[in-house]
Amino acid sequence: MKLFVEKNYDDLSERASKILIEEIEKNKNIVLGLATGSTPIGTYKRLIKAHKEKGLDFSKAKSFNLDEYVGLNGNHPSSYRYYMDNEFFNHINIGKSNTFVPNGKAENLEEYCKEYDRLIEENGGIDIQILGIGTNGHIAFIEPSEELVTCTSIVKLKESTIIDNSRFFKSIEEVPKTAISMGISSILKAKKIILLANGKNKANAMANILDNDKISTKVPASLLKLHSDVTIILDEEAYSETRRR
Ligand code: PGA
Repeated sequence: MKLFVEKNYDDLSERASKILIEEIEKNKNIVLGLATGSTPIGTYKRLIKAHKEKGLDFSKAKSFNLDEYVGLNGNHPSSYRYYMDNEFFNHINIGKSNTFVPNGKAENLEEYCKEYDRLIEENGGIDIQILGIGTNGHIAFIEPSEELVTCTSIVKLKESTIIDNSRFFKSIEEVPKTAISMGISSILKAKKIILLANGKNKANAMANILDNDKISTKVPASLLKLHSDVTIILDEEAYSETRRR
């Protein structure tokens, strides 16, 4: 596991985007694993800048997103499809049909989840996966629990996640209670993983991972310790509660 602690969010985004730009330049057919939320915005901004100013080419790239709320369609402003289009895809030269975000309105959700994992595999698997982390230690919408589902599945959101994410909705009542989320195996199959965390509110979750050599399904992000190519990029605030330095 490689760990970078950067001074602030800008430096974190700079570090993450440099790694991604290098990978995209090396492999035109790259399959990107993408995340939503506040954390990757700065990274996406820098990738857009690299596209506009240096011609970073996404024309043959594909992408798979981690998750989507059940019941929201892609033009709902709080859906992850809407977020991805607005924050990233609309500003680069990726073909929309090469961008996959789980369909929260799929008719048969269980069948659809299986199909999503199949689709990732058929496209050669994810080359590099970007992850944020929840204040409760979740990655994607894989919530802390005694047991975790390995593959893409329908998950029930924890109260803490609903509260955290209510800032993206008009009111907390509007936040869906369930989501489609890639499973822990779907994520661990990625060839490379980058986990990003910034801000004081992530410090406790990061300390739970970095201060010991254990894994626990109650801290889903700790399972990343099983992967051989993980880079963790934090800002100083997100690192502030980690004692083992
Ligand atoms: P955030 O969400 O980037 O909005 O903090 C991260 C997550 O919940 O995985």
